[in-house]
Amino acid sequence: MLRDSRTKPAHVIVLGNEKGGSGKSTTAMHIIVGLLKAGARVASIDTDGRQRSLTRYIENRAVWAKRSGLALELSTHFNVPPAEGETVADIEDREFRAFAQAISRTEYGYDYVVVDTAGSNSYLMRVSHAMADTLVTPINDSFVDLDVIGRVEPETYHAVGPSHYGELVLESLRQRALVDDTRCDWVIVRNRLATTPNANQRRLIQGLEELSGRLGFRIADGIAERLVYREYFPRGLTALDHLDGKLPGTEPTRAHAAAGQEIARLLEVLGLPLLRPPTAQEPLQALRGSATGGAGRDRPPFAGLHGGR
Ligand SMILES: Nc1ncnc2c1ncn2[C@@H]1O[C@H](COP(=O)(O)OP(=O)(O)O)[C@@H](O)[C@H]1O
Ligand SMILES: [Mg+2]
Repeated sequence: MLRDSRTKPAHVIVLGNEKGGSGKSTTAMHIIVGLLKAGARVASIDTDGRQRSLTRYIENRAVWAKRSGLALELSTHFNVPPAEGETVADIEDREFRAFAQAISRTEYGYDYVVVDTAGSNSYLMRVSHAMADTLVTPINDSFVDLDVIGRVEPETYHAVGPSHYGELVLESLRQRALVDDTRCDWVIVRNRLATTPNANQRRLIQGLEELSGRLGFRIADGIAERLVYREYFPRGLTALDHLDGKLPGTEPTRAHAAAGQEIARLLEVLGLPLLRPPTAQEPLQALRGSATGGAGRDRPPFAGLHGGR
């Protein structure tokens, strides 16, 4: 049974990586739609007020639903606009207040809040990370991207230790645990994978696995580099949407089906509380019922966070 979200705070899923272009917004949108299709009540917050990619994706979906007559699920969405102010502290304070307002409106009455973040180290980005029950970090399959999380030794490719984003996450998770004793589940998703395995991939996996032991993250099955992840944006569609072929450009393809399966698998690996994991055979079924437990939380995620900078 879904827990009573009027009295329990929503489970917070944060998409984060200090590197831009790693797939945070695209993955956020797919997680949102996956959860909605699973029958969950989902709110979303875009804290990347400059790029607004997630906001634009959701707006496009709303417009396309109207225009096409398709019943496309939508989250209750909030955008945190960039603030202006005399000093950095002023700006941070204004952005924090806008974010806190969005959180207070989504904390109860929803099963999940999905928070998309900017690819830069800002106060809002750190606060978002410290609120996460589940932190999802997509990374491109490249040592350049791995380098923001942890370093590898150049001759052997063995992991040496965390680098700036890895340290930032560890600190955020420490803060998160202080607030209410909740252990955040940090999951790294390799994104834009080449379909043919190569030596670079193998070395990267080795480095990631070694870092995972030291930093405490899990590694999800990857998401392949596919055109479908890019071309759906103007219509706000995702790999999980049923394309009925009645409209131009909505013919289902093998790539669409394969993408749908890898997103279903990602949701399964995230092991979110309250959902029966979707399977590749029935990724779009409503999955209400049969809770799997997980990182439930009884205290609001904000308690004790502000002022901690
Ligand atoms: N699996 C994928 N296959 C192909 N293109 C992708 C994939 N994931 C993301 N992209 C594309 O990569 C770019 C960056 O993705 P985005 O989600 O905006 O990243 P971020 O939010 O981390 O900056 C976008 O052009 C997006 O369409
Ligand atoms: Mg983005």
